[in-house]
Amino acid sequence: MRKKLVVGNWKMHGNRASNALLLSGLKEAGPWTADVAVCVPFPYITETALALTGTQIAYGSQDCSAHEQGAYTGEVSSAMLADIGCRYAIVGHSERRAYHQESDQLVADKAKAALAHGITPIVCVGETLAEREAGQTEHVVKRQLAAVIHTLTHCIGEIVLAYEPVWAIGTGLTATPEQAQAVHAVLRQQLRAATQKADAMRILYGGSVKADNAALLFAQADIDGGLIGGAALKAADFSAICRAAG
Ligand code: PGA
Repeated sequence: MRKKLVVGNWKMHGNRASNALLLSGLKEAGPWTADVAVCVPFPYITETALALTGTQIAYGSQDCSAHEQGAYTGEVSSAMLADIGCRYAIVGHSERRAYHQESDQLVADKAKAALAHGITPIVCVGETLAEREAGQTEHVVKRQLAAVIHTLTHCIGEIVLAYEPVWAIGTGLTATPEQAQAVHAVLRQQLRAATQKADAMRILYGGSVKADNAALLFAQADIDGGLIGGAALKAADFSAICRAAG
């Protein structure tokens, strides 16, 4: 039985005051049966860590560098993130793939860098609306995952995978539980061919997950939790989703 995981992706939202409010709201709302984490903007990770001391809520970043260290202005290394206690790093979010031209290989290299420092990469894959309409969903997500499998080889079992259809992110359009499950099953099958740990790995769904659709999504055989954007910014909403994963 895989333990569910719910991860909040705050994206580029928040400030010190609003974060403090959100985090104290979450502390009051927990604990939950599921594993819970928040991935916050870089400048707020340390304060988040302090606020979450003694709670079950883990924390992480929304990206990491593929490089170990050096002259890479603006980059943040996995060693630095490990140094401040990050458990997770989201890599390959569709917003980074689209707005920062991140290739499948770069995403795989970032996942590798995170793992090298004991950080669990949450690797995002997902198709655009045009790709879905062209019948390419399977092809696209398998290609994105294949790069990670090829790069991580036997370590692939250590990642968390997140299926996030691009057309469902921040749009209010959610994949139906059946649509999501179908893709999760494809991904699980691909993982099975690569590692014996496939059935223990967590595959999260992301894309307009809300308190009122979370339970049905999480009830699907291969959906092991969620990666939550908009609904992670309000303690009551995020907490309800964490409860739905219990
Ligand atoms: P959303 O974002 O929940 O706001 O759709 C999900 C994500 O981008 O991870």
